Amino acid sequence: MQDKIIDGKVLQAELFAELRMRIHVLKQRGIIPSLVTIIVGDDAASLVYIKNKQKSCEMLGLKGIELSLPTETTTGQLIEAIEKYNNDPSVHGILVQLPLPPHIDELQVLQAVNPKKDVDGFNPVNVGLLSINAPYFTPATPLGCMRILEKVNQKADITLTGKHAVIIGSSNIVGKPLAMALTNAGATVTLCNIHTQDLRLHTRSADILVVAIGKPQFIDGTYVKEGATILDVGINRLEDGKIVGDVDFEKAFSKCRCITPVPGGVGPMTIAALMENTVKSAESK
Ligand code: GUN
Repeated sequence: MQDKIIDGKVLQAELFAELRMRIHVLKQRGIIPSLVTIIVGDDAASLVYIKNKQKSCEMLGLKGIELSLPTETTTGQLIEAIEKYNNDPSVHGILVQLPLPPHIDELQVLQAVNPKKDVDGFNPVNVGLLSINAPYFTPATPLGCMRILEKVNQKADITLTGKHAVIIGSSNIVGKPLAMALTNAGATVTLCNIHTQDLRLHTRSADILVVAIGKPQFIDGTYVKEGATILDVGINRLEDGKIVGDVDFEKAFSKCRCITPVPGGVGPMTIAALMENTVKSAESK
């Protein structure tokens, strides 16, 4: 039973061990990989995400630089700050935490990040490169999902080629880039959104089911094909304070081959993927 629960913290530790070796080689070349995180305002969830990202930098011996700007920051001021880091050769990764306050032009900001330092993969240049299977950087959550699938498939000696992957949730941050990454890996992908009719028709034929909709415990066993691999990207706080995913873990568990828990599944691998992108950026210098 324990084998069915994909432990994101264990997989993160494995990826961190690989990254430590690459960071050691970089440091021998006099390069200290560095990541700038930029946050505008004081959104509570964003502050937690930034803290976790910076903590991981510290754990790995990366240089983490935190820029915290007030809510009133203008689009122009934010772009000015980004350009300073674009032009700083000691900075390898720049991440602007989303969501931004509504008065800021998000697209203009994402376009301002140098694509070679865009470790979030959100600049349209990187979105395009991923879509033609030539990415500099795949966004962190999709890359974390891909690393999980690689690791669980490796253990079971199966491949993604020809598998049916169904993603619920078509956001720019998770669903769309993950659809590209899975397509590039040879899977047949169905990308569902809130308008999808008869969702079960799709999910019941999914070998891989990824759920990223922000609805607590929405997916139960009736949506799941026997033997499916389930990745739960959701992080929802219930009224009693409990953190749950978008999948009803207990109800889906008996049907699936394996499943990521929340917390402790996709989350740790998302951070690991961001660290991987930062190291990759430093290596390309
Ligand atoms: N907000 C929610 N997820 C993400 C992410 O992966 N990167 C950034 N920059 N902001 C986010």
